[in-house]
Amino acid sequence: MTERPYVIDQMISAKAIAARIEELCRDIRTEFSTSEKIVVVGLLRGSFVFIADLVRELDMSVEVDFIEASSYGDAMESSREVRILKDLRGAIEGRDVLVVEDIVDTGHTLHHVINLLLSRNPAKLRSIALLDKPTRREVDFRADWIGFEIPDEFVVGYGIDFAQRNRNLPYIGKVRFTGE
Ligand code: IMP
Ligand code: MG
Repeated sequence: MTERPYVIDQMISAKAIAARIEELCRDIRTEFSTSEKIVVVGLLRGSFVFIADLVRELDMSVEVDFIEASSYGDAMESSREVRILKDLRGAIEGRDVLVVEDIVDTGHTLHHVINLLLSRNPAKLRSIALLDKPTRREVDFRADWIGFEIPDEFVVGYGIDFAQRNRNLPYIGKVRFTGE
């Protein structure tokens, strides 16, 4: 990765994200209203901020687990071949599961992870992604809940990185290379 200089233009404010999470959690609580407890599975590393806000707003009995799939490396293009780098700690057979992803781009990552988790026979499995870039999709897949649909821009912040940087921005911003 060349160190091209860039600036970050705010796209979705922290306040807008918080408001959307409140809405989403109302729907999620309804969907899981008969569940005694749910397993919330975050995809590392990008979902760590979203999952933290989500589970606190959910106000339900939850267990939190994580799975890590390979994706971009430090590049801006998906590798398309998904490998599991770190698996769940707990079993999900017969459990009610919510998979949490930061952003769905080509769709390969979440599609692969969901198929893997379905093969373990959960009682119910739903998925949520904070961001969705539908115009980039390469596999026929959609998360059950989407925070925001966004255009084909490379974004950072709120857990999402560019070559491991900018995850700690409290808002979603788009990367704009300067001098272009
Ligand atoms: P997919 O497999 O192409 O859907 O890619 C999903 C993964 O690529 C996400 O979990 C992100 O980690 C990463 N990704 C996709 N779009 C962006 C972006 O705009 N900024 C940073 N990471 C992204
Ligand atoms: Mg990711």
